[in-house]
Amino acid sequence: MEFNNLITYKTGLVAKTLRGLEHILASEIRDLGGKNIKTGTRAVFFDGDRELMYRTNFQSRTALKVLHPFYEFFARNENELYREAYKIDWSILLSNNKTFAIDSVLNSPYFNHSRYIALRVKDAIADQFRAKTGKRPSVNTDDPDIRVSIHISGEKCTLLLDSSGESLHKRGYRDAASSAPLNEVLAAGIIILSGWDRKMPFIDPMCGSGTIPIEAAMMAYHIPPGIYRKSFAFEKWPDFDELLFKKIYNQEHPEPIERPLIIGSDKSYQSVAISKQNAKNAFLGKKIEFKVSSFEEMNPPEGPGILVTNPPYGERIKQENLKAFHSVMGDVLKKNYREYTAWILSSNLEALKFTGLRAEKKIILFNGPLECRFVKFSIYGGSRKGNK
Ligand SMILES: C[S@@+](CC[C@H](N)C(=O)[O-])C[C@H]1O[C@@H](n2cnc3c(N)ncnc32)[C@H](O)[C@@H]1O
Repeated sequence: MEFNNLITYKTGLVAKTLRGLEHILASEIRDLGGKNIKTGTRAVFFDGDRELMYRTNFQSRTALKVLHPFYEFFARNENELYREAYKIDWSILLSNNKTFAIDSVLNSPYFNHSRYIALRVKDAIADQFRAKTGKRPSVNTDDPDIRVSIHISGEKCTLLLDSSGESLHKRGYRDAASSAPLNEVLAAGIIILSGWDRKMPFIDPMCGSGTIPIEAAMMAYHIPPGIYRKSFAFEKWPDFDELLFKKIYNQEHPEPIERPLIIGSDKSYQSVAISKQNAKNAFLGKKIEFKVSSFEEMNPPEGPGILVTNPPYGERIKQENLKAFHSVMGDVLKKNYREYTAWILSSNLEALKFTGLRAEKKIILFNGPLECRFVKFSIYGGSRKGNK
């Protein structure tokens, strides 16, 4: 059997994302050339070839992983699962000197333990190699050559190859983090959701480790988010096309016609130092202005502009102080940010009410398990009723 009997790309691709960003990811995939796009929960299903799989890994800002389903079967118990997994010719993907890892996602009344599921698939692979060669490839969960996922929904089992490896939110520019860094995929997702035109001034006045301004600059300067990564899992697949990947990697990206003002500030000197280092790691040191300043004292450029921020949530700060801070935030927005659109991401729904501003839009998002709201406030100039 040839390897392309398993890696056919005819069985589609699946990209995973954070809950709430499925439509953003779907539209990114559409722009990259994906066909038959369907959104699910935390996932987008689409048709595409090897090039699209490389591109989605390299260019999508909101994908966490890209998977290729390669084998489907039905099973109602662990023995059936083992037997079906044994039927696959695993030598197409693996050999004794390669390492592998299996993870599992379970949504089925027939099976109880997802770790046990992964273990049974691992046994099937190991036993098959042992029977044929007397040896077996080893498991390496940190940095395996081949990563396989098994998804079980009811009695339907799907085996998928993970083409990304380490989650794509780990871009590789953030080596030092402040206290509560935002997931890079969430940062990119909220910037896209904010509708920023990539031209007007962009400001994050509580930038922490700089994730939001760095992701904004990557967008404005057309920098693919995968450029900083050391590797992708597909580079170890038997069908890896190095020339094709080099073509994608080396593709020139146009310089923006207008260079937007992108500002990150934070009251913590240490956070700003970390932000600067992270921006430097992303080769964006000169594209972002970082300042040490409290939000209250920060002097932003004249509007129109856009503010996107993720203020402290409240694990470390008392709820009462947080309410007071949100009330100050509302006042500062009204006073200093005329003609700005302000977007605030917070999991503290109670505190958000204390801004005293009318929320124009509220988008439900999830930062991992944490339910958040991404809330839009339009700050008008002068005497508009909206701010009263
Ligand atoms: C949740 S963190 C932001 C995390 C950031 N998005 C990241 O990716 O690293 C909130 C930040 O707000 C800053 N902060 C809190 N109160 C502030 C204030 N009054 N003015 C400016 N920054 C403030 C903190 O120093 C902290 O870095």
